Amino acid sequence: MSTVTSTTVNSQSTAPDCAFPHLLSPLTIAGHVLRNRTLMPPMGTEMCTEDGLSTPREAAYYGARAVGGTAVVMTGINFVQSDLEPVHKGLARADSDDCIPGLRGIADAVHAGGGLAALQLTPGLGRNNQYYDELGMEPVSASDNTYFFDPSRRCRALTTEEIRLIVQRVGEAARRGAAAGFDVIDLHGHTGYLVDQFMSAVWNRRTDEYGGSPGNRARFAVECLHAIKDNAPGCIASFRISVNHRFEGGRTWRRPRRSFRPSRPAGST
Ligand SMILES: Cc1cc2nc3c(=O)[nH]c(=O)nc-3n(C[C@H](O)[C@H](O)[C@H](O)COP(=O)(O)O)c2cc1C
Repeated sequence: MSTVTSTTVNSQSTAPDCAFPHLLSPLTIAGHVLRNRTLMPPMGTEMCTEDGLSTPREAAYYGARAVGGTAVVMTGINFVQSDLEPVHKGLARADSDDCIPGLRGIADAVHAGGGLAALQLTPGLGRNNQYYDELGMEPVSASDNTYFFDPSRRCRALTTEEIRLIVQRVGEAARRGAAAGFDVIDLHGHTGYLVDQFMSAVWNRRTDEYGGSPGNRARFAVECLHAIKDNAPGCIASFRISVNHRFEGGRTWRRPRRSFRPSRPAGST
């Protein structure tokens, strides 16, 4: 069980004169060998079935990127829950065991191309999910933020019990990712989506243990990462987040350490 912070450089530069001298040399992270330091960023393909199951076409797409030499090929977001957010038809899911065979197809195709396979899991999109009305659900977020797709409406703040359910769902999905053969399980904290709505003071005005200090705002993300590590112990746990929001009051790259130094959840080891 390890995070991407526990790295071992196992090779010296192979291209000493280039601006990124280690880029093409291997790297070992938690027993997983990356053949170089490149990673394909997560980008949703919308190549799933209507039920969100991955398809051979999608597996071939990711496999081709591994054949091209990318060390880590990461999927786009896979939804872990539809308890509190709608998952529209055709969006990728990891919220039931029915998803495992399709996910295994992706992992196998990436491995056949010589890469490591990374599965990105999203706890949700929160105020940025555009399908609440279509599926008869109420917009939710970290706090009663405006709904992105209709700023005249406000989201409902998730309750503590609902947050715990989402963390549990992240763990369940991580277990499926490991069962499907993925090497890396990534937490989707990309700009403005649910995890980031908790992490940023712009959207988080909670007064419970999930709000207030930077550590408290990061608690939801940390609990999700622990759920990944506990349920996928052989996998690398990674965390995708933007270090620069590029808007007034948002996170800047000068302060990421403070933002990312979270309180550990009670009882964690
Ligand atoms: C079609 C598309 C789908 C994307 N899907 C995801 C996603 O599922 N998860 C994620 O973290 N980022 C996603 N992104 C963001 C990309 O990973 C990336 O950050 C963005 O394209 C900016 O790239 P750049 O940093 O090279 O400019 C997506 C981007 C595009 C264009």
